[in-house]
Amino acid sequence: MLFFIDTANLDQIKEAKDLGILDGVTTNPSLMAKEGITGKNNILKHYKNICKLVDNDVSAEVIALDFKNMIREGQELADLDENIVVKVPMTIDGIKAINWFTEHSIRTNCTLVFSAGQAILAAKAGATYLSPFVGRLDDTSWDGMALIAEISDIYEKQLYDTMILAASIRTSLHIVQAAKANADVVTCPLSAILGLFNHPLTDIGLAKFLADHNKSNG
Ligand code: G3P
Repeated sequence: MLFFIDTANLDQIKEAKDLGILDGVTTNPSLMAKEGITGKNNILKHYKNICKLVDNDVSAEVIALDFKNMIREGQELADLDENIVVKVPMTIDGIKAINWFTEHSIRTNCTLVFSAGQAILAAKAGATYLSPFVGRLDDTSWDGMALIAEISDIYEKQLYDTMILAASIRTSLHIVQAAKANADVVTCPLSAILGLFNHPLTDIGLAKFLADHNKSNG
């Protein structure tokens, strides 16, 4: 399972990259706004800066809701860097746009996916990645991780190439569950990645090793 970080924060991207386990970055308009990145030129410049930091796929989302402008924005984003993946919402125009991008060899990430039916549409249109929002489903008492497993089952049976990118990940446990549910990629906040390191027995064991070493070595 690939590890992507879900942020537009350059420091956090760098910290995750320095861990040596980072495979890519996803962003969305909310994450860009959170970093105070506003205005078209600044947004495009920020994507370029992210691409300079990581030599991996970077998902950059279109703002337009209509086919024509999705294509225009998506082409502009794709022209920024070969690692840009154009993120497109799961709508009728979005699926038409994904189909168009596929025909023009531009890679896509279909976002805001909440059902298996939507996942089938995105795969038919040739999406490179599919982003089901696990945490937001959990928020509504639907089982987000069950959706990942269901889509994985369908994609395996139908031999679809689209990669399942578990998104809206909130906790370290979500990451483990995404791996069990057969997600191809998980995109998560830095805190969820760092949480994977933690276990009290590791800390206790390390302290004992050190104490024993110091006892016998003076
Ligand atoms: O990957 C999508 C993500 O950014 C949404 O996360 O926590 O706002 O549901 P969240």
